[in-house]
Amino acid sequence: MHVLCLASGGGQQAPVLAAAGARVTSFDLSEEQLRKDRAVAERDGLDIACIQGDMSDLSALAAESFDMVFHPVSNVFVPDVSAVWQACYRVLRRKGVLLAGFMNPCLFLFDHDEADHTGNLVVRYPLPYREPDSLTPADRVRWQQSGRAAEFSHSLEAQIGGQISTGFGITGFYEDRWSDEATVFNRFSPVAIATRAIKPGLCGD
Ligand SMILES: C[S@@+](CC[C@H](N)C(=O)[O-])C[C@H]1O[C@@H](n2cnc3c(N)ncnc32)[C@H](O)[C@@H]1O
Repeated sequence: MHVLCLASGGGQQAPVLAAAGARVTSFDLSEEQLRKDRAVAERDGLDIACIQGDMSDLSALAAESFDMVFHPVSNVFVPDVSAVWQACYRVLRRKGVLLAGFMNPCLFLFDHDEADHTGNLVVRYPLPYREPDSLTPADRVRWQQSGRAAEFSHSLEAQIGGQISTGFGITGFYEDRWSDEATVFNRFSPVAIATRAIKPGLCGD
């Protein structure tokens, strides 16, 4: 199976899939994240092709060249998620599978500094949340100084409806909790969503 690990660098998922026998391409914007994929591959004797680029533009990859796209929680970093679904659709073969993870947008309603410092959930931001537009002028300055990548909440319509309107059929769905078990959000709700979607065959099957 030829697997595209999309915005999935960091030496985690790509090496695991390569160790399981897949032919893996890791495509990520960060050279540092790709360096970690290469380092694990070298350490464990695995073969991973690493390509640097933006997940919204997969023109460097041939159409219909992958059996599976593994896309972990990372489309939070692009302003337009529909471009990612269309790019995934193009590079997948017929009956290819898209495994995607994303945050429940409700997570972005809350003041995360307040949650971290006091454990209280305070609703602060209308959705969709978009950095830096959703921030106050003072918070915008702090965000710029932090060097943190801009985050975008996206709606469930953009995440799930977007996959469907691109042509995928959704065949699997689950919700998950934050990996940091101490986070206050886990006391109230799962925070992440994963979908399994299929690009239809030629007859729509
Ligand atoms: C939260 S990490 C997810 C993958 C990581 N292996 C993990 O399990 O945490 C998000 C990844 O998305 C990548 N990324 C952010 N913006 C991107 C973009 N526009 N195009 C491609 N990759 C991007 C980051 O470099 C990072 O590797």
